[in-house]
Amino acid sequence: MNADGRTRLNQTPEWTALAKHREELVGAHLRDLFAADPGRGAGYTLQVGDLHVDYSKHLVTDDTLRLLRELAAATDVFGLRDAMFRGEKINTTEDRAVLHTALRAPRDAVIEVDGENVVPAVHAVLDKMSDFAERVRSGAWTGHTGKRIKNVINVGIGGSDLGPAMAYEVLRSFTDRDLTVRFVSNVDGADLHEATRDLDAAETLFIIASKTFTTIETITNATSARDWLLTELKAGQDAVAKHFVALSTNAEKVAEFGIDPVNMFEFWDWVGGRYSYDSAIGLSLMIAIGPDRFREMLGGFHLVDEHFRTAPAESNVPLLMGLLGIWYDNFHDAQSHAVLPYSHYLSRFTAYLQQLDMESNGKHVARDGQEVEWQTGPVVWGTPGTNGQHAYYQLIHQGTKLIPADFIGFARPVADLQPGLIAQHDLLMANFFAQTQALAFGKTADEVRAEGVPEELVPHKTFEGNRPTTTILARHLSPSVLGQLVALYEHKVFVQGAVWNIDSFDQWGVELGKVLAKRVEPALTEGAKVEGLDESTKALVAKYRELRGR
Ligand code: F6P
Repeated sequence: MNADGRTRLNQTPEWTALAKHREELVGAHLRDLFAADPGRGAGYTLQVGDLHVDYSKHLVTDDTLRLLRELAAATDVFGLRDAMFRGEKINTTEDRAVLHTALRAPRDAVIEVDGENVVPAVHAVLDKMSDFAERVRSGAWTGHTGKRIKNVINVGIGGSDLGPAMAYEVLRSFTDRDLTVRFVSNVDGADLHEATRDLDAAETLFIIASKTFTTIETITNATSARDWLLTELKAGQDAVAKHFVALSTNAEKVAEFGIDPVNMFEFWDWVGGRYSYDSAIGLSLMIAIGPDRFREMLGGFHLVDEHFRTAPAESNVPLLMGLLGIWYDNFHDAQSHAVLPYSHYLSRFTAYLQQLDMESNGKHVARDGQEVEWQTGPVVWGTPGTNGQHAYYQLIHQGTKLIPADFIGFARPVADLQPGLIAQHDLLMANFFAQTQALAFGKTADEVRAEGVPEELVPHKTFEGNRPTTTILARHLSPSVLGQLVALYEHKVFVQGAVWNIDSFDQWGVELGKVLAKRVEPALTEGAKVEGLDESTKALVAKYRELRGR
């Protein structure tokens, strides 16, 4: 019981019932679950938009799923969902609405924050972005010297980088291949150096992406980019207007930096950084793929939003994915979750999900301010198959840790591959299916012996199986499908945060490091006094200065 008399999550009957059910399932093997229900392979599937979601290879029965849905009902996941869609301030620690869903709402939708419909403003910005993107793509927007823009560099970090950088890679085959699009995020000067060293400044546009426009990495890189540009062009401050635009909620800081507010694309405090790449933050992506495809992507997001908002619990895919994660996280003590796309274009997808999931649900304090007594967000990790198979899959197959995994694949390769490379797609996908098969069903000792393997090697060659996976399969990769996938994970993260009773929309945990970095920096300079630091950090700073020759 809570101080305020409310029952805590892990004391609810629904939680207790799941814990008991988990005990009953100890020893159950996927081989047995499939043997008992031959229809399981086709039956344990759901469809949302273009995504076919197969959850048959999970350590669950109908009872498990029912009990998980009862937990969702008891924690009022759908109530919180409705409050989010209505624009209520469910981000309580920042007193903000959470309305990334409004970013992809149709023009005629009405979504109010503090009594004001935000949809017209969303579409006004989208229209302004479209106009600008078309001007850059067509060559109508030129640089200070009159040259056409050929290079676009997005300068931002976290949510102001990961989303557009990921989506640019995913949709590379839809991009204008004559444009060079790069992303600079790290305050390590090497990042900006490598991004600019082979470019003509006269043909380069910098997009400074920062919700707050105070993030030290971004402002430092933006300042250095401006210096580079003005030096290269041997131009004065007036050249900035043609080479710098800003994406931000903070018009004042943008103007202070020297970017004309006319060249600022706005978004709002009800868009979280990690939920923002479908806002103005997606401008670099829009320039790369064009406004129509960008809107197609928004349509994909909206489709899944509507599914999440309206589908009953039994067929609600984000709800299911969130609950399956809770099943492993809280009742099997799984510590991590792998997302393994079988598409080279999704090479940055999991990195993007890391911020989405871990910055959202990496919390140890519940909404009521009390310490949680249950596990919250998992470590999210993974890289594209088949590369991972030759690196860390060994541990997933035969290690001691339970690692639930999502496998994401496409029936058709992207259109512009050469014919010979298109033929490789079946080999890629054969691996995709084989991995989840091996993880689920393994290989018994008897099967190994039957192959004539010497007895001493049998334990080494036996695969226990029973490793749970979700398979997400779509016909092909498209802007809409990307939007669908991202919205699916956004809402999955929402479901988990709702059940765990944490605020998934703040990120106080990144603040301390920022403050301390500011405090440490002066101590690194020549002759400065190293004071106000703990003994360990003081010794490290002294070593650094010695090695740096200071
Ligand atoms: O890492 C903290 C954070 O605030 C993220 O949530 C955000 O995406 C990132 O920094 C960048 O912030 P901004 O867009 O304000 O520069």
